[in-house]
Amino acid sequence: MRKKQLFYLLFLAYTMSSYMANAQTKQKLESFLPGALWYDTDGQLINAHAGGIILVDKVYYWFGEKRGTHRSEGVNVYSSKDLYNWKSEGLAFSPSDDPAGDITHGCLMERPKVIYNKKTKKYVMWFHLELNGKGYAAARAAVAISDKVTGPYQFVNSFRPNGNMSRDMNLFVDDDGSAYHIYSSDENMDLRIVKLSDDYLTATKQDSFLFRRQREAPALFKNNGKYYLITSGCTGWAPNKASLHVAYAVQGPYVQVGDPMMGKNAEKTFGGQSTFVLPVAGKKNAFIFIADQWNPKDLKDSRYVFLPISIKNDEPGIGWLDEWKLDWFNKK
Ligand code: GAL
Repeated sequence: MRKKQLFYLLFLAYTMSSYMANAQTKQKLESFLPGALWYDTDGQLINAHAGGIILVDKVYYWFGEKRGTHRSEGVNVYSSKDLYNWKSEGLAFSPSDDPAGDITHGCLMERPKVIYNKKTKKYVMWFHLELNGKGYAAARAAVAISDKVTGPYQFVNSFRPNGNMSRDMNLFVDDDGSAYHIYSSDENMDLRIVKLSDDYLTATKQDSFLFRRQREAPALFKNNGKYYLITSGCTGWAPNKASLHVAYAVQGPYVQVGDPMMGKNAEKTFGGQSTFVLPVAGKKNAFIFIADQWNPKDLKDSRYVFLPISIKNDEPGIGWLDEWKLDWFNKK
């Protein structure tokens, strides 16, 4: 056998065996198991970190960072009808082969979020972009667009909104269709929220400073006319204490009302860091808090925490559950 053929065979055997090692027998899930290994419907571990979820025609789409051991490898997307079982829809957005571009391989694509623009009929993705080889110095927001929810998304632009540094971020669409980008700015000291243009592709000048408390990982949701903003502290991949701010208008002012986490390990957000709050379709007052339990030694092995939010007297609270089902919201 020629050397080249032998190398090819060995490579094939290695790829197959690592695929098999990661794969799990396909098993239908009927509950959430926060922090447990979570396999997709092909039996592969879900790789969608610091993600966000949108609902399109009764199907949920979960976008998140595709991670290698450390590398950022683009944005993965999964689909599900029940929120327990997720089918891989592949890479929604990929780094580019153009070495001169903003999104060339080696850049960091973090905290991707997708929203749908009813006017332009386009899906719009925003994420936190750091340029290849520049650490976390670029601090930019990046925008990509697609006709189809699962992509492939086309890169539009990357920038600092109104010149402000932009690292950890989220998107929020209000009832009137106005969309907002919430972002950690000024070396993560400040949290800001900027209204997006009507096509959701750029930031407008309506850019509000919220507070200077060194917060990141923002997750915003609205219930009963109030806006609730969950954030983490700034300790990199290590978990810390969450905090909740409340406002009567989306761009503030926001008032700090303590930590919504309750019970054991609450002061460390159950080992996780906020990424998103998902309104559950068809249920009133039903929201799921989503967080990442980061594994800095092997980022792709970071775990997901989905927990129900209980809202009593307009006060959200989140407690740990080893296992739960969506009917939790009926029993409240
Ligand atoms: C975290 C942030 C993550 C990632 C990480 C890098 O604080 O929330 O998205 O940027 O730092 O250390």
